[in-house]
Amino acid sequence: MSNVPATARPKLVAGNWKMHLRIATARALAEQAAAAAAEVAGPDVAVFPAFVHLATVREALRGSRVALGAQTSHEKQEGAHTGKVSPEMLADVGVTTVLCGHSERRQSGETDQMVRALARAALRAGLTPVICVGETLAEREADRTEEVLRRQVSVAVDGLSSDDLSRVELAYEPVWAIGTGRTATAAMATSAHRVVRDVLVSKFGEAGLGPRILYGGSVKPSNAAELMNSEGVDGVLVGGASLEGPSFRAILLGAVRS
Ligand code: PGA
Repeated sequence: MSNVPATARPKLVAGNWKMHLRIATARALAEQAAAAAAEVAGPDVAVFPAFVHLATVREALRGSRVALGAQTSHEKQEGAHTGKVSPEMLADVGVTTVLCGHSERRQSGETDQMVRALARAALRAGLTPVICVGETLAEREADRTEEVLRRQVSVAVDGLSSDDLSRVELAYEPVWAIGTGRTATAAMATSAHRVVRDVLVSKFGEAGLGPRILYGGSVKPSNAAELMNSEGVDGVLVGGASLEGPSFRAILLGAVRS
């Protein structure tokens, strides 16, 4: 269905560090990610540390080609929102990309409409939103995967201009595969990515071919290359396996060899 070769979208290997690490270990991991990225020309690289580690990680990544990401944000620019962080604050601290609607946040109450607001807020602040979508196990077993993906993607990108869309990325992360050791097969990933791409192309025409669609969910060195090479997969969003320098490096090297 796509008339733009997949190579037009450089791969992205991204590490979502979730609520892990301490300053010293976050710094060391960032240094290892920077060193691994320097070894390989090829896929883009990004890490998503916890808010409190952003400044330290930014320093550790200085001069490297690893992008600094955040795991979420508030939708407003500023205001009386105790405990929240705005996309503008993230940009100010050196962040260039932010996850929107990770399933662990959807599980604690983020709706499709909220995810859309967060993506728009990220764009307003000049950040690249990575819009995360994916079905639960119950939804997959009820054969509702396609319906869920269509809804999540179309609400999230609704009202964006083609220019906005060119600054968006998406991640297909089946909820049942996150942190469970169960990974989607390459065929499952391809078919889900095809649905996501189809929504984008139906809404935006050719511009819908632009955004990268990552796969996430128990990606590790042993399966990353195969997943990343699956048709329609433009990279990986890695949780657990991004917390060890050597395994993140192995995933990155595998992306180049594959
Ligand atoms: P996992 O997490 O690799 O540990 O399954 C992926 C994610 O939640 O982004």
